[in-house]
Amino acid sequence: MIGIDNFSSGKPSNLHEISGYPSFLLLTLDVAKPSILHQEELQGIEEIYHLASPASPRDYQRNPFATIAANTAGTSHMLELAAKNGAKLVYASTSEAYGDPEVHPQPEEYKGNVNTWGPRACYDESKRLGEVYCYEYHRQIQLPVKVARIFNTYSGGLRNDDGRVISNFVTQALNGEDITVYGNGSQTRSFCYVTDTIRGLITLMEKDAANGQIINIGNDTEYSILDIAHLVKELTGSSSRITFHPLPQDDPQLRRPCLTKARTLLGWEPVVTLREGLLRTIEAYCSQMGR
Ligand SMILES: NC(=O)c1ccc[n+]([C@@H]2O[C@H](COP(=O)([O-])OP(=O)(O)OC[C@H]3O[C@@H](n4cnc5c(N)ncnc54)[C@H](O)[C@@H]3O)[C@@H](O)[C@H]2O)c1
Repeated sequence: MIGIDNFSSGKPSNLHEISGYPSFLLLTLDVAKPSILHQEELQGIEEIYHLASPASPRDYQRNPFATIAANTAGTSHMLELAAKNGAKLVYASTSEAYGDPEVHPQPEEYKGNVNTWGPRACYDESKRLGEVYCYEYHRQIQLPVKVARIFNTYSGGLRNDDGRVISNFVTQALNGEDITVYGNGSQTRSFCYVTDTIRGLITLMEKDAANGQIINIGNDTEYSILDIAHLVKELTGSSSRITFHPLPQDDPQLRRPCLTKARTLLGWEPVVTLREGLLRTIEAYCSQMGR
């Protein structure tokens, strides 16, 4: 097994456990650089999970061009490697492909409501173009490629300063800082614990019937951001205050995956509740903070 990362946004300590396995090789490389196509260790690969991309709004808005490159040139390179080696590929696209949706919940055939002229566009639109690369490789040479539209996934593996809502709230609550809600907190999200998402991606890779398909991977239990702030406060036993701040531009109001296709085609569905996933996340953050 080979892991590739340029560590532009990832947390190297997430790899401590797997690094101990002799069968694991870590290459510090940028998927957007064409030289990756000639990397000796990658010849003969059988499966590619292409997850390389800045993923939090804070990271991708700081590095818009690197984000565009990872999802366009990077996706093209991963597809070319798959084609050269007869490998299967799963591409990590995103629920952001739906933008600020006018259809709720979001099924895969919904074409989205994405702003090309805003601070989220570098991520949303480059992920959409990445999907187009996948589509063309499947259409033209029948490459066994699948696209996962991943909805908010979390765990204690997120950096404390990652900027996404769960890492923000848990870090703030554990430090006794204000829990910062953007807007009035009525906007909704559906949070999937990482073990469910990973099981979904592996199932997707294994399923030939999903070749050339886009499939939502996420949890379809929807919460308001304010509900999540209260739940984090309760589970951490924190005395933090909940404070309200201006909503960022293009922040989606509603987010919930339609999982009919995942359930019927993959036989997959999430099993970890938000309460259980948050408890695991809080425990991981506490141990990382030495508490
Ligand atoms: N977590 C979510 O809620 C979510 C939702 C939708 C889609 N996704 C997608 O899933 C993938 C993984 O997300 P995550 O939440 O684990 O984020 P993450 O930041 O923890 O992981 C992404 C990894 O990609 C690496 N990377 C970035 N650009 C790279 C490049 N050019 N070459 C090599 N490595 C590079 C980063 O250093 C990081 O380790 C991303 O593609 C993300 O867009 C995640």
